[in-house]
Amino acid sequence: MAYLEIDRLSAFYGRAQALFEVSLDAEQGDIIAVIGANGAGKSTLFDSLMGLTRIQGDIRLAGESLTGMDPSSIVCRGVGYAPERFNLFPYMTVRDNLLVGAYTARDDIGKNLDMVHALFPRLEEREGQETSTQSGGERQMVSLGRALMTSPKLLLVDEPTIGLAPRVCNEIAEALKRLRDEFGLTILMAEQNANFALSLSDRIYVLESGRITAHGTHDELSDDEALAAAYFGH
Ligand SMILES: Nc1ncnc2c1ncn2[C@@H]1O[C@H](COP(=O)(O)OP(=O)(O)O)[C@@H](O)[C@H]1O
Ligand SMILES: [Mg+2]
Repeated sequence: MAYLEIDRLSAFYGRAQALFEVSLDAEQGDIIAVIGANGAGKSTLFDSLMGLTRIQGDIRLAGESLTGMDPSSIVCRGVGYAPERFNLFPYMTVRDNLLVGAYTARDDIGKNLDMVHALFPRLEEREGQETSTQSGGERQMVSLGRALMTSPKLLLVDEPTIGLAPRVCNEIAEALKRLRDEFGLTILMAEQNANFALSLSDRIYVLESGRITAHGTHDELSDDEALAAAYFGH
């Protein structure tokens, strides 16, 4: 039994189907990348894991089914979400935006703030700054930090590098690696930037039009010439 098991998950918006029997496994401490073009269904997959869409199929975390649970119960089970449109409160400070994430994990606030500040020292230096005045990279860090304030065991990160400069992408990559290596988190990351995803993920799933069309390690996927040309530029 894998730590996270997504078993033939389909998702629907009204009558429109956005995911078609998606299956995905993650072991504890894995970084798994889901790569795919705009509209492939990456955000829908994450929203579905959080109980935010209508689904068929099953999602299990450490053997327990999350299917049918409401989002706050899923957060309490240890799933943290840094969504693509992260909707920070622009006129609240960095610190207060982080504390918004702590609603279900009030006993862990000190420990979790320490973790966020260790990963992103800039957020501690600028804890009194309104997020409306921050750069895109800093806001992405606040979004990740807010998700970490929920005490997650599984962290969902949707397109963390979108619109960011390469130097900032490297900082985000380092933080995700530390979350795996030092803090023992399991991470599921959605990316259009396949090379970024490859640089830190243990395994990759390719999502196309709501279906998983390939999965494996970088080496395994590189053996498929068409796939490598389409996604990895070689
Ligand atoms: N709230 C919604 N209502 C209806 N259709 C949606 C909604 N959100 C996404 N979709 C559709 O679901 C499909 C997958 O979208 P999405 O999960 O956002 O893809 P990605 O994150 O990979 O870009 C697209 O066809 C998109 O138009
Ligand atoms: Mg998306």
